[in-house]
Amino acid sequence: MPGWLQDVTAGVAFSSREACGRSCGGAHGLNRADRCLRAARMGWSRGCFRAPGGGPANAALHDTKSTSRARRRVAIGHNHGSVAKMPIVDRASGSSTLASDVFELLCSVWPALCDRVPAAADLGARWAEMSTAFIEREDGLPVAHAGVLEIPLLVAGEPRRAAGIHAVCTSEAHRGRGFARRVIERAIAHAEDRADLVLLHASAPELYAPFGFSPVAQRVFHCDRPEGRGPSLRRLAATPEDVALVRRLFVARAPVSHVLGVRDAADIFLLDECLGCGTLRRLWFAEDLDVVIALDVADRVAQIYDIVGPSLPPLAEITRRIPGRFDRVELFFAPDRFPGPRWRTRVMQPPDVFMVRGPFAPGDEIAIPPLARC
Ligand SMILES: CC(C)(COP(=O)(O)OP(=O)(O)OC[C@H]1O[C@@H](n2cnc3c(N)ncnc32)[C@H](O)[C@@H]1OP(=O)(O)O)[C@@H](O)C(=O)NCCC(=O)NCCS
Repeated sequence: MPGWLQDVTAGVAFSSREACGRSCGGAHGLNRADRCLRAARMGWSRGCFRAPGGGPANAALHDTKSTSRARRRVAIGHNHGSVAKMPIVDRASGSSTLASDVFELLCSVWPALCDRVPAAADLGARWAEMSTAFIEREDGLPVAHAGVLEIPLLVAGEPRRAAGIHAVCTSEAHRGRGFARRVIERAIAHAEDRADLVLLHASAPELYAPFGFSPVAQRVFHCDRPEGRGPSLRRLAATPEDVALVRRLFVARAPVSHVLGVRDAADIFLLDECLGCGTLRRLWFAEDLDVVIALDVADRVAQIYDIVGPSLPPLAEITRRIPGRFDRVELFFAPDRFPGPRWRTRVMQPPDVFMVRGPFAPGDEIAIPPLARC
């Protein structure tokens, strides 16, 4: 799910390109950058999903709340089952709970989820199988949620077990009564049992500071376009074949960065892409290089979000295959594995703040690949 671009400090204005370029849909009433960013953040939240704003597009998303029960089953990852259950950890009652009411809570806060979670599930990236949900209830109904998912990171060359807290929300009618605090506490306790690093992306960082989370700045790395033109990439489609291709390439993937990289996280990647853009819109395949590249071209800049494959080709081999006109290249991960170009950096300036709890010292020049963000 997507909104992965955050920054902690003021300074450089957040550009449309730091969202997801021009290709994502979004809500009326926001500029394209906001729409794309918000859509992008619908995924593995950054500790927090974003609702995509108001207006006609949003109204259309609201309409999806009438989605049929069968559709909701698909949404939560049980498209063939008879009863939709979500692996809820509901410590208050100690019971499992029908997923539909939790899903309705999430959709009431982020209406775009109603369509995009099912779209991801259709591709085998099932929210409920990735995320452990912590729920607070009142009168039997879920009123607050926090999810935890595992993110297999590579930090300073070492594998780290990270847990991402995402989709923290309280129903509008129950805010200001400590419900979010309680689900966050549970989520942290769960995460700490399983990981040595807990992270999130927050639109309200003040909410998390009391729990020991600290902001971490991320950077965008940019250089002039390397010379050369070559065969074009093929845009992936939301088909079983292309999903299988992504999964194959993840199995033996070479991390894009040793400073801060991600290992085998195909499900998060697919889910983030669906939550961000509604389908696999930013994924392209270079058959001869055997890599999938997540990218956008906007305002004459090629933004590369991730590269998935058994080995990383030189940057020029990638850029010469990218269709469209661009003069500059931006990487949304540290370029330590792409020596050669003269890299410059700027602080990433999206509205969400990347926050970490636990030892984390990969250096100052980092970014988490957008399609691996929680
Ligand atoms: C943000 C949200 C989850 C807070 O839920 P809530 O149940 O009202 O929060 P709580 O009552 O548990 O508040 C816990 C603490 O966080 C503070 N807090 C609540 N909302 C906050 C916000 N938006 N910004 C900063 N601090 C906030 C409260 O003041 C409280 O502080 P205290 O313990 O010192 O009194 C809720 O407003 C929401 O669902 N918003 C929309 C979804 C969203 O933006 N989620 C992402 C959050 S990063």
